Amino acid sequence: MLTHSVEEGTLPNRFRKLWDEIAPVGRDAGSGGYLRYALTEPELTLRGWFREQAGQRGMPVTEDGNGNLFAWWGDPVAGDAVLTGSHFDSVPHGGAYDGPLGIVSAFLAVDELRAAGATPVRPVAVAAFVEEEGGRFGVPCLGSRLLTGEIAVDRAAGLRDAAGVSFAEALGDRPAGADPGLLGRFATFVELHVEQGRALVDLGAPVAVASAIWPHGRWRFDFHGEGNHAGTTRMADRRDPMLTYAFTVLAANKEARLRDAHATVGRVAVEPNATNAVPSKVTGWLDARAAEPATLDGLVEAVRAKAAERAKRDGTELTCTQESATPLVSFDGGLADRLAALLDAPVLPTGAGHDAGVLAAHLPTAMLFVRNPTGVSHSPAESASDADCAAGVAALARVLEELACR
Ligand code: GLV
Ligand code: MN
Ligand code: MN
Ligand code: MN
Repeated sequence: MLTHSVEEGTLPNRFRKLWDEIAPVGRDAGSGGYLRYALTEPELTLRGWFREQAGQRGMPVTEDGNGNLFAWWGDPVAGDAVLTGSHFDSVPHGGAYDGPLGIVSAFLAVDELRAAGATPVRPVAVAAFVEEEGGRFGVPCLGSRLLTGEIAVDRAAGLRDAAGVSFAEALGDRPAGADPGLLGRFATFVELHVEQGRALVDLGAPVAVASAIWPHGRWRFDFHGEGNHAGTTRMADRRDPMLTYAFTVLAANKEARLRDAHATVGRVAVEPNATNAVPSKVTGWLDARAAEPATLDGLVEAVRAKAAERAKRDGTELTCTQESATPLVSFDGGLADRLAALLDAPVLPTGAGHDAGVLAAHLPTAMLFVRNPTGVSHSPAESASDADCAAGVAALARVLEELACR
């Protein structure tokens, strides 16, 4: 089944038509990447588009008081619902597919099912989760963490963006926090996402099912030194936090390689950030990930110890704060095997975080990955062919049919 269409054209054409509606939103003409930070104008435009798409399909939209949106095919309060969808927000200059692909594919999968005459025995909900990347307020998966109670409301409400605006202010209200009533209405979550590596290229398959997410987290390293004149301060007299920072970045890279883990310092802030001043303070954010929790702990401890040792030598001071943590996620093995058999798809782990990783602790959860020929993500070079995106839609439609329509 699932061969009819709502409109004329092939599924790749229907994908492209809907995709083109959102493609210009938040795109930076210079980099070609996206600046779709949560609750800023481009993301609000996409949220409006979400409501329009839901409206065109006769799907009522509900909000959970945490900034997460849900469009319902079927009765929102019936329970036993199948949740799908993803997020609209991007990292700075991120790719087009990370997030929005899961939402666009969900609407198209509903179209495919309807065109084939399927009706949901259990409701289907399409979600747009807020602040998945942590690109604005620093904590990834903020919307799903709030919904599940994995972050305290006070902490989330007080998170601030670079301009000092709090999450509560951006949301227009204090976030509502855990909603066991809403969560209890979902029987399963299936998030479709562009693959963020090259495994599917190597396997020659368009779609995979996820097995696990590596444990990962973010650590903020503040290096305090003494701001001073670049021309007059003798080298021996400096307390330069940039040196401690630079050494720490190299140490993180080395320690990660030793463990077959991943360590990245992709964000740095320098004060006063002047070419002719020894900095007074440097802050670097470490993103660390590993296949096993003990490996991750060992990696971060080693980086911390090396940074502290180096700070002594440089006459600087170090404070290290963990800003977010995501434990190892093993997706529901029975569900993953069932979907892999249904789709004849390979099963893969990933090092990337997702709202599915947060929800997996609360309900049976699965992920589908769509091939990314470059393997590049969190960059404008992220890509996926229309044919593979259509294969993703078809796979999600089969999954929703299996989980919601039988
Ligand atoms: C989110 O995409 C992450 O893995 O950092
Ligand atoms: Mn991402
Ligand atoms: Mn994502
Ligand atoms: Mn993500």
